[in-house]
Amino acid sequence: MCLTIPGKILQIKKNYALLQNSRGVRQINIQALSNIKIGDWLLATVDFAVKRIDYKEAKEIFKLLEGRAAQNLEDKINPQVKEILKTAQKCSLTQSEILTLLNIKDKEKEVLFSEADITRKTCLKDFICLHGIVEFSNYCQNNCLYCGLRCDNKKLRRYRMTQEEILKVADRACNKIGYKMLVLQSGMDFSYSDNDLVKLVKEIKKKCRCFLFLSIGERSLSFYKKAKKAGADGALLRFETSNKKLYQKIHPKNTEKGSYSARFNLIKNLKKLDYYIASGFLVGLPGQTKEDIANDILMMKKLGVQMPSFGPFIPSQNTPYAAKKAGDMDLVYKVIAIIRLLMKGARIPATTAMETLDPKARHRGLTCGANSLMFNLTPKKYAQNYKIYSNKIYSRDKKLEKLALFSSKESWKMIEKEFRKNIIN
Ligand code: 5AD
Repeated sequence: MCLTIPGKILQIKKNYALLQNSRGVRQINIQALSNIKIGDWLLATVDFAVKRIDYKEAKEIFKLLEGRAAQNLEDKINPQVKEILKTAQKCSLTQSEILTLLNIKDKEKEVLFSEADITRKTCLKDFICLHGIVEFSNYCQNNCLYCGLRCDNKKLRRYRMTQEEILKVADRACNKIGYKMLVLQSGMDFSYSDNDLVKLVKEIKKKCRCFLFLSIGERSLSFYKKAKKAGADGALLRFETSNKKLYQKIHPKNTEKGSYSARFNLIKNLKKLDYYIASGFLVGLPGQTKEDIANDILMMKKLGVQMPSFGPFIPSQNTPYAAKKAGDMDLVYKVIAIIRLLMKGARIPATTAMETLDPKARHRGLTCGANSLMFNLTPKKYAQNYKIYSNKIYSRDKKLEKLALFSSKESWKMIEKEFRKNIIN
């Protein structure tokens, strides 16, 4: 068994209880919980109680653990890692503790994934959030070294969708297919005026009952205020890296407007405007260290991000980073798991970039802490030119889409089953 497993209370003495589980009977500290009775089922990490659960939940958790590689490892993992995973139950880790987790391998890694999966299960049940993304323009005024949409990339065939085209996609997605969450994404394209975008938001919200994210880069706060009033709900704006020097290096247009502090101030201000915040970073940027990644994780927590949005760096043709190495997917899975432990209620997507590097990424991501997917709704004729990075896949799977949209309470479980079936077939 891994560290966190269910057990039944046999006896209670003040702050301690005797807990029976598959490891036998052990004494655990129950201080964190109140009104515990003999016969109750609890989730316990090593020697302390984390959460009261019911028998049905306990059975489901055992089932979840059955198929995992982390079984029977409790006594085989490094005591320091065990201590860190115990501490993580309190949703707080230091930079150096995160760094230790980013470096673990084999058994320890399996235990980390399993801990994150149980956290997802007990905090969020088996619910998947499915987002549909519409990449409505690939024009960009920025020149980020890593991104295929950068303005210096003259080889990219550019497109812009009209308001009518965007509205048609949104209408179909929400009113015919059943999407409840949409992301409107583009490069930083100011040929759509503030008013154009506000009007678009209004019209989408008039036609579609959906949660609407804007992912359009840095615009003025007054624009974002108007868009919020018009019905926009969320803002997806990554900070890309929390390392200021690295940020400045990869974002060469460092005018006052496009600076490190402008990006962070905007994210903070969007939070104040009550936008649901999706933000995060790239894993494996050239020049990035694991210390940076640990800081990025802490930064997400500090910013109060509700939807951590991150993925591996993937080299993109016709950019200065075309020949650089892609981010390491093993590290990405660890980042998912650590974020799940630190931000228990967060919506963590398994993203397209992950799947571009590992065809099994959706399934792997969903079993190490992720609880959300993002499918592409951009018309194919345009999507093929939304080349943020090379070999970007078109991520929409109609079978999974159906499961995620129509069986929301059980969607995680059903999707996981579907993945497993495909692996076995
Ligand atoms: N690899 C992976 N992700 C990238 N993005 C941009 N370029 C790349 C790349 N080469 C991501 C950025 C941006 C999001 C829209 O796409 O993180 O915020």
